Amino acid sequence: MKYEKASFADWPKTLDIDPIKEKFGSPAWIISENQLTENVHAYAKFTGDNRRIFYPVKTNPSLTVLQLLAKMGAGADCASQLEINLALFAGIELKNISYNTPVQDIQICASLLRSGANVVMDDLNAIIELQDSLKDISFPGKLFLRVNLPEYIGYSNKNDHQELMAHGHKSSKFGIPAEDLESVMKQLTLPVSGLHVHVGTQMDNMNSFEHAILNLNDLAEKFNTAGHGITDVNLGGGLGIPFGSGQDFPSLDSWCNTMIPLKNKKLTYSVEPGHALVGNAVALLTTVQTVKESRGKKWAIVDVGTDQLTKVTLLKWPHRILHGSGDELLEGNDAIAGPLCFAGDTLKENIKADNLLKGTPLLIAEAGAYTFSLSNKFNGRTAPKWLLLKPNGELIQTMEKESVYDEIHHSRYDWSITDHNGIPQLIDLKLVNQLSSKYLFKTCEADHFEYVNVKNERTHYYSFTVSTSSAVDFISMPFAIRIIGDATIISVLHSEGHHQKDISIWGRKLTMDCYEQLPSNQQFQFTISLSSTLKKGNQSVTVARFKSLCNKFSGSIIVSHEP
Ligand SMILES: Cc1ncc(COP(=O)(O)O)c(C=O)c1O
Repeated sequence: MKYEKASFADWPKTLDIDPIKEKFGSPAWIISENQLTENVHAYAKFTGDNRRIFYPVKTNPSLTVLQLLAKMGAGADCASQLEINLALFAGIELKNISYNTPVQDIQICASLLRSGANVVMDDLNAIIELQDSLKDISFPGKLFLRVNLPEYIGYSNKNDHQELMAHGHKSSKFGIPAEDLESVMKQLTLPVSGLHVHVGTQMDNMNSFEHAILNLNDLAEKFNTAGHGITDVNLGGGLGIPFGSGQDFPSLDSWCNTMIPLKNKKLTYSVEPGHALVGNAVALLTTVQTVKESRGKKWAIVDVGTDQLTKVTLLKWPHRILHGSGDELLEGNDAIAGPLCFAGDTLKENIKADNLLKGTPLLIAEAGAYTFSLSNKFNGRTAPKWLLLKPNGELIQTMEKESVYDEIHHSRYDWSITDHNGIPQLIDLKLVNQLSSKYLFKTCEADHFEYVNVKNERTHYYSFTVSTSSAVDFISMPFAIRIIGDATIISVLHSEGHHQKDISIWGRKLTMDCYEQLPSNQQFQFTISLSSTLKKGNQSVTVARFKSLCNKFSGSIIVSHEP
């Protein structure tokens, strides 16, 4: 290969997985801040600015990933309002959002363009609809047209799953055929600022990227000569990463070194890397639960399977599985399987399971891209907790194991314990008094908080520090509701320009997660981000999402208020 080959990230040298398993439990996603930062910096050499790296949220929508990228000033490529909300909640700026999906919501397109964000489109019907809705309205955002090039260079080393990932293929549903662009442009009065292409995922062929940038440069030049104002080229994502030895992909550095000289100085370039940005920055810690033997073959069954690693079955795409020492499992006739009631739940065939015992921790490498985002709840499994490996080597838990499943499926608890034939019996009020919590019944009225510091960090985003005092040494749910409820009222009124509490605001729905006791009688810090306000009849409705600084407490309140 004429380019430098991508190598594996050096995970276990920095991770001692035995004590990690003991301290945090297994399974767990682990993200290396250093590796993610290194990948962002490499791409920024090409784009010139972290803000022009639009991370595709679909690759891995973990708040931990998004928050790290937000801290570095990166942007996000979003395919839905939910992905946009997640990116904003993580702290990515609205003007650094790019919206791109095969079926677009025209209201979202219009509002993003009016807020200075980017929209990538390839459906002429939708573009015309957007044009009508933005008639005579100028906007600071950038509209990109996604292009499908007539010649598809494709992959160097062919394999079956590529046909599911060749997004830029000339017969795919994506992009306006380059030969139709001129006639599309003629129908538009909307200003088009950019051209976009995405060659396809897990691309191993540098020629594909070179072909894409050179063709988009030519198209931009051609349209600008005809009087258009193309200032930007977005090259999408696509650079693949190796998942096993013997797989050749250009390294990120050689991708940049090849692409930089091909830039046209008159144009601004952006990218949307998924695999190459986050793929090798995340590993999945798992632990052997049992080793079964069947007809001479050993099956090491671990505590996570294709519920998180759907790709392994869907695309026959095994990951490297490493021992704590960093060595890959030896080759043999055994297999590692997940815990699911599904014959396809095999994580790796042809390994040697001799030294795998109940309790042996293992690291599933290169697990950052299209794993968590494609995860499912088969057999009642939910996404593992998230751990962040900080640059100083410290490991902290940033997110709990996903709890959503418990809330939606309360039926998994046994509700049949009600005796429907029983005879109603009055409970003596004396007993009621003896059973009631003195704290909730009376003392919690004395709970008190004061605002120490309130900041309007950005539009619709507030941070609060309050000091708390209570009769118990933790912040109880009712006390938390009072604090969050009042802070929400302040945020909504402030964001709408009120100077006093001169309208009525009431809660419609509350979701609250409190994973650990929050200490009271000390300062409590949290943030509130507000959605846009929808008019519903004669009420306005806003969603406030809150999150404590310690990440152990989060949720949302939907409030109604007088317009
Ligand atoms: C439009 C677009 N951009 C970027 C990406 C990210 O691709 P990759 O993970 O291959 O970098 C995708 C993935 O499908 C995509 O569809």
